[in-house]
Amino acid sequence: MSQKPNESINKSNESDRGIHTDFTNKMTYSKYLKLNEILTSQKRLSTHHDEMLFIIIHQVSELWMKLILHEINAAIQSIKTDDFSTSYKRLARVTKIQLQIIQVWDVLSTLTPAEYIEFRDSLGQASGFQSYQYRLIEFALGYKTNHILKIYKKEPELKDKLEKAYIAPSLYDVAILALAKAGFEINSAIINRDFSKPYESDVSVREAWLTVYRNVDQYWDLYQLAEKLVDIEDSLQQWRFRHLKTVERIIGFKVGTGGSSGVNYLKKILDQRFFPELWDLRTEI
Ligand code: HEM
Repeated sequence: MSQKPNESINKSNESDRGIHTDFTNKMTYSKYLKLNEILTSQKRLSTHHDEMLFIIIHQVSELWMKLILHEINAAIQSIKTDDFSTSYKRLARVTKIQLQIIQVWDVLSTLTPAEYIEFRDSLGQASGFQSYQYRLIEFALGYKTNHILKIYKKEPELKDKLEKAYIAPSLYDVAILALAKAGFEINSAIINRDFSKPYESDVSVREAWLTVYRNVDQYWDLYQLAEKLVDIEDSLQQWRFRHLKTVERIIGFKVGTGGSSGVNYLKKILDQRFFPELWDLRTEI
């Protein structure tokens, strides 16, 4: 006998009876993810429709930055304990996250100069320049600049966090220490260096990486590590470049809300390098 349509719907509802519906004193999806806090944190300061996009793009980028930091810091610990394979896993994840935040620029590019100008004044002096997570990433990768620490003098907890990261060895510092542990003769001034100083290219480090790249089979672990670092720097530069072009597309050559010259400032930072020897060796090999 053929089934009436309603009968089949009732049957499927019966088979769904296992679905949990009583959440008294139980963890729920929203509670676990703190969705109420997250989804009520998009407070526009203007009535302009597109300000929502602007806020969410920044918040999403900051969330991904949080995970990048979590993974890089874990990778630093893995390298320190010679657990290279775990560090590769973590660093590969960093690069995948970077691809996500590079894609973010495509969404932001739908904001036109005419739209942005309507709510730009609401931002006052707020700028990504003050992103402390971005600075923590730079510190973790070895690019140490202390001029930005002043921004946080009224937020002692944050300042403390940044200062700790500022004096700690970076991902590149631990990679160089791994070279020394593998028997390469690394300049003692580099091994015992003050980790708060910006890293400057060194001949002994360059020679060591060159040897690794010329003897891939012998130094497979270090070679893999080096390529993971290059992936990260490459993606970071792509992020910077897309940021620069998106900014140029939206505000042209106006000064930034953070007080810099804007696009010209962003052009200059494209020259900053994190792992100089790993790039230089490509010319020499
Ligand atoms: C309409 C969108 C945007 C505009 C017009 C813009 C503009 C600028 C400008 C002009 C600067 C230079 C500093 C200043 O004077 O403000 C800057 C820096 C920065 N922005 Fe953006 N930005 C935009 C979106 C974003 C987004 C979505 C992020 C993601 C978090 C971001 C992150 C940063 C960071 C981290 C810096 C510091 C770069 C450094 O000092 O190395 N920006 N931005």
